Amino acid sequence: MTILLADLLSDLREDHRNMAVMLDLLGGQVEHIRNGERPDYELIHDIMRYMTVYSDAVHHPKEDLLYGAMRSEKPEMAKGLERVEPEHRELAKLGEALRNDVEAVASGAAVTRDRLVEDTNNYVSMLRKHMAWEEEDLFRRARELVASEKEKFIDVSNFDTLDPVFGPERQHSFANLLQNIKDLSTS
Ligand SMILES: [Fe+2]
Ligand SMILES: [Fe+2]
Repeated sequence: MTILLADLLSDLREDHRNMAVMLDLLGGQVEHIRNGERPDYELIHDIMRYMTVYSDAVHHPKEDLLYGAMRSEKPEMAKGLERVEPEHRELAKLGEALRNDVEAVASGAAVTRDRLVEDTNNYVSMLRKHMAWEEEDLFRRARELVASEKEKFIDVSNFDTLDPVFGPERQHSFANLLQNIKDLSTS
């Protein structure tokens, strides 16, 4: 499947809005832990499952297609793009660490609150920083490319998996996460 470059960019920006919701939910769980309350481990696990199956596996590779187009169409726009791939790798690693913590808790292993807070904060702050860089710098440059390449299509066949939480076909296994998103928007 091919889509217009302009649509690719707007899909990526929508992903960011959705990922920001996930980060808000994670931030809320950190607050629970800090207040000495038990966090919702299932929710943290669902969020990290979403970040693995969608953000790492679909959003980041789709961004690579956008950045690849910037590199090839407008080499003068390529400054700093070499930092994207290592940041995506680092985010996947930090996400895996947090997911492992929660899975360890589920299997009965002891994970300290400090470690859970630290791993969650590391993940949230790096992802927030990464997304802010993309929004404020990379996506702005991409908008210039879109403006000059209105008819450019990008092949996204390898990454056209639908978003399992925010997409048109919501996966039942994310029901708990969906309820939390709903509660967040009504609170
Ligand atoms: Fe990214
Ligand atoms: Fe992104």
